[in-house]
Amino acid sequence: SYECKIGPSILNSDLACLGDECIRMLECKADYLHLDVMDGHFVPNITFGHPVVQSIRKKIGCAPVCEVHMMVSRPEQWVKAMSEAGANIYTFHLEASDNPQQLIKEIREEGMKAGCAIKPATPVKNLIDLLQTQMADVALVMTVEPGFGGQSFMRPMMDKVRELRKVYPHLDIGVDGGVGLNTIKHCADAGANMIVSGSAIMRSNDPAKVIADLRSAVQN
Ligand code: DX5
Ligand code: ZN
Repeated sequence: SYECKIGPSILNSDLACLGDECIRMLECKADYLHLDVMDGHFVPNITFGHPVVQSIRKKIGCAPVCEVHMMVSRPEQWVKAMSEAGANIYTFHLEASDNPQQLIKEIREEGMKAGCAIKPATPVKNLIDLLQTQMADVALVMTVEPGFGGQSFMRPMMDKVRELRKVYPHLDIGVDGGVGLNTIKHCADAGANMIVSGSAIMRSNDPAKVIADLRSAVQN
């Protein structure tokens, strides 16, 4: 199987200490940070935008990889700002974009990797159709309804991961939502290699151990 990277979602951390929480996750050997951007329109919740991402970047230095998960309407709007703020992977929602082919190109022109996410109700075929015409760097399969941390993992979404992996042996495939020690194996077995995990890590009093345990759960 594939080597899995673990990306903590800091949505469920103490947002008043976001920079320190990010540093703490990196010290706990996170492979990358998953930053959940919500606009209160595409999803029924609001978090933060590019100014906060920029502050995080200043705090953590230039090396750590940051994925911004753009749960926003009109994702075209923030590509340049997020690139300037220091995001490395710009993951937008297929459901939110009028012209995803063009958007992927713009993201790459701004020097970021392009990710495309699908909600639980969106057929994987829609994403595969897009990738056939315009390849992305990351496919992110939502395993909960986007908007909130701490929801339970939707195992039927693993069919989507398997389907993507069958068509694209080298694509980075992420899973996001409800992933923890009890569910990561399903994800890795299906072919996911970018593992987003929020509350399982953030709610633990030994997050370094959870990250290490997640990693060893999928090592073979
Ligand atoms: C959901 C977010 C996820 C979420 C993950 O809208 O995109 O990144 O915060 O958190 P857990 O692992 O708690 O589901
Ligand atoms: Zn997310």
